Amino acid sequence: MAVVGGPKIKLNTGAEMPALAFGTWQLQGEELKNAVTFAIREAGFRHIDCAWGYGNEAVVGEGIRAAGVPREQLFITSKLWGTWHRRVEEGLDESLRKLGLDYLDLYLMHWPIALNPNASNDLIPVRPDGKRDIALDWDIRNTWTQLEAMLAKGKVRAIGVSNMSQKKLEEFLPRISIPPAANQLELHAYNPDHALVAYLKTKGIVPQAYSPLGSSGSPLVQDATVKTIAEKHGAPPGAVLLGWLLSKEIGVVTRSANPDRIRQNIQDTTTLAQKLDGDDVATLDGLAAAGKQKRMIMPPWGIDFGFENWTNVSW
Ligand SMILES: NC(=O)c1ccc[n+]([C@@H]2O[C@H](COP(=O)([O-])OP(=O)(O)OC[C@H]3O[C@@H](n4cnc5c(N)ncnc54)[C@H](OP(=O)(O)O)[C@@H]3O)[C@@H](O)[C@H]2O)c1
Repeated sequence: MAVVGGPKIKLNTGAEMPALAFGTWQLQGEELKNAVTFAIREAGFRHIDCAWGYGNEAVVGEGIRAAGVPREQLFITSKLWGTWHRRVEEGLDESLRKLGLDYLDLYLMHWPIALNPNASNDLIPVRPDGKRDIALDWDIRNTWTQLEAMLAKGKVRAIGVSNMSQKKLEEFLPRISIPPAANQLELHAYNPDHALVAYLKTKGIVPQAYSPLGSSGSPLVQDATVKTIAEKHGAPPGAVLLGWLLSKEIGVVTRSANPDRIRQNIQDTTTLAQKLDGDDVATLDGLAAAGKQKRMIMPPWGIDFGFENWTNVSW
């Protein structure tokens, strides 16, 4: 394989994060294990994005081990789920145990909300009225203090957030001592959130794009403008969508269960990111404003996270 690891982005900790991460959401079993092993051993990914909430970290761990690449050459991210905000170290220890690791390179607060643990459903606990059981009285600064303690203990090498809007960050940042290294967000050509990305850069927080292809069944890879740019460079549309983000120093977390596309997503993307010209970038930057704005991932939390274009805020 030509590219190993791909381009890197420097975090505010001084560590270098491989900008392209292989995502593990919605994959399970042998398909997941084989995809993770292939992503590392054959395709060249060195960053794997995991989460307790995906319910599959033990299989991801098997896939990582089967790849046979030394731990220090890998960058592993996982995320703290809402039911663990009161017990961060326990939640982290569970992820580490399942993954078979003794530290993470990056640990993110998955959503800026705590959930009230419920014995019958520890993933999406619901109240008797059927609404998601968010611990509205819990200050996430208390979650962050515990995450900072995990840094001090060496169990994680960087801490960050996910799904945090500028509005939420403006309340949060002045009240904490160690700033987040990254903010993982839904970012793609139909939801570029230019203002939030610019704000994060002024704060030294690396934006990481999740669902950069628009997630499962997305219209993005079929977009006529994306296809035209792809044809111009003799590259696949997926590489255009991912390479555009990379060219803007945005981290990219992408998932595929298909070996050709897994390879394409790092090899072709890395090459294409260097070939995109100013016109290509301006065109892709403008797609959403030209009428294609569309956010794909809006779980029915029922609260306002402060994002523009989030359409299901009220129940
Ligand atoms: N922090 C958060 O709250 C959060 C939320 C969502 C996601 N994430 C992370 O971000 C990762 C990526 O997001 P995602 O899983 O929603 O979706 P994504 O990477 O945007 O898209 C995945 C879909 O695109 C297809 N695909 C992959 N490569 C392709 C290519 N080169 N050309 C055409 N189609 C392609 C895949 O199908 P095939 O398998 O058939 O290739 C799959 O259906 C997740 O896996 C997860 O790790 C984080």
